[in-house]
Amino acid sequence: MPNDASIKIDGKEYPYPVMIGSEGEKAIDVRNLRKDSGHIFYDQGYGNTGSCESQVTFLDGDNGILRHRGYPIDQLAKHSDYIETAYLVIYGELPTEAQRKKFGDLLRENAHIEPQMQRLFEGYPKNTPPMVVLASLVASLAGYYPDLATNNFEKDLQQFDLSAAMAISKIRTLGAMVYRHGRGLPFMHPKALPFCDNFLHLMFSEPYHDYVAIPEVTSALNLILLMHADHEQNCSTSTVRMVGSSGANLFTSLAAGIGALSGPLHGGANTAVMNMLQSIHDENDDGTRFIEAAKGGSKSNRLMGFGHAVYRNFDPRARVIGEACSVVLKKLGKSDPLLDIAQNLEQAALKDDYFVSRKLYPNVDFYSGIIFRALGIPTNMFTVMFAIGRAPGWIANWKEVASNPKGRIYRPRQVYTGPVKRDYVPMARRG
Ligand SMILES: CC(C)(COP(=O)(O)OP(=O)(O)OC[C@H]1O[C@@H](n2cnc3c(N)ncnc32)[C@H](O)[C@@H]1OP(=O)(O)O)[C@@H](O)C(=O)NCCC(=O)NCCS
Repeated sequence: MPNDASIKIDGKEYPYPVMIGSEGEKAIDVRNLRKDSGHIFYDQGYGNTGSCESQVTFLDGDNGILRHRGYPIDQLAKHSDYIETAYLVIYGELPTEAQRKKFGDLLRENAHIEPQMQRLFEGYPKNTPPMVVLASLVASLAGYYPDLATNNFEKDLQQFDLSAAMAISKIRTLGAMVYRHGRGLPFMHPKALPFCDNFLHLMFSEPYHDYVAIPEVTSALNLILLMHADHEQNCSTSTVRMVGSSGANLFTSLAAGIGALSGPLHGGANTAVMNMLQSIHDENDDGTRFIEAAKGGSKSNRLMGFGHAVYRNFDPRARVIGEACSVVLKKLGKSDPLLDIAQNLEQAALKDDYFVSRKLYPNVDFYSGIIFRALGIPTNMFTVMFAIGRAPGWIANWKEVASNPKGRIYRPRQVYTGPVKRDYVPMARRG
């Protein structure tokens, strides 16, 4: 590797190799910087820091590109489904027919939640935020499946296959149970159905009446879960990697990722979009007044679902979901005034110099809530849906960490800005 970068500190040059990723991204490998120079890089929020090498997802925010294992997201949206994409994200290749069947069987065989574990729900008040319940239930999987909750990756790859399928399937089942618990409805047992149909059954069937999903609903759900399958080193994925780097098992690492996703700056944005659209609707605005207010520069008035920390172009997922929205509503024979408002907002913002000059485009959250709403999923469940969709990306990233024999524990440094050394003061002499 050529030494083609150098860092000059106090007149002394320190040479470092430049790494080039498979899509040409460049990084300076400063792993020895502190040892060589006694300095660290300060990069609050890690916006300029590559925390790992990864083969899962390529994201080019300037050009609006997202690819999983090399496959463009729009091709996956068109030709694949959520489960096949999950397999691709986790294992690196599109499955053969036999691999797809085996994966599907594992998902079906592991969809249930142990009766003893179901009782954990009783401890939660009905109005507990859904992500709180989900995170804690996923963490408790480590207690119910201790044999799978190990990090002995190299020793038993089959064990990983089972724990990965179990995590995807049970997070889906738990998501539906969280919904029913919040409404005081009895839990439904999973059936031998395809993944998305089973989710809809677990959500909406009644003991006396089976919910039978129409194909348009299943395929819309498939699409939206697929769109969330992975997204490079975002906050929750980095959290899963960090926790996994300590040797923590898959379930514990996923629970930590769910916690990270629960924050409004990450998984909660789709809920904020719906609240915004609803309030525009309630105020009889077509979006014009809101757009003007959003240009005021205040954080509380932002056009939610616009702008992205990484994309400086259309979020490719927003394009797919935006197009799907109208199609899905039409197929379901539904209309939603919030979709009209969203489309007005998008058209107006894309023509407005404020948004154009700041490269603010719709992101994945702008239209996803409208599809969820059309499927009958309430707003407080949107982030749970995001978690179900994102499970494959978390698992694939955990796998990279757990299977790397040369991996190190993630342990950033800091610039300490607290008090310098001082001596203990007894209580009588304080104040
Ligand atoms: C996602 C987000 C946090 C990214 O922030 P960022 O990359 O740090 O962008 P900045 O906060 O630096 O914003 C750059 C400029 O655009 C403005 N801006 C960013 N997003 C905006 C929005 N949604 N509406 C109005 N103005 C916005 C900022 O006020 C800032 O303007 P200035 O240069 O005049 O100060 C931000 O775009 C946002 O809050 N979007 C709305 C919430 C959302 O949809 N989140 C989901 C992300 S998937």
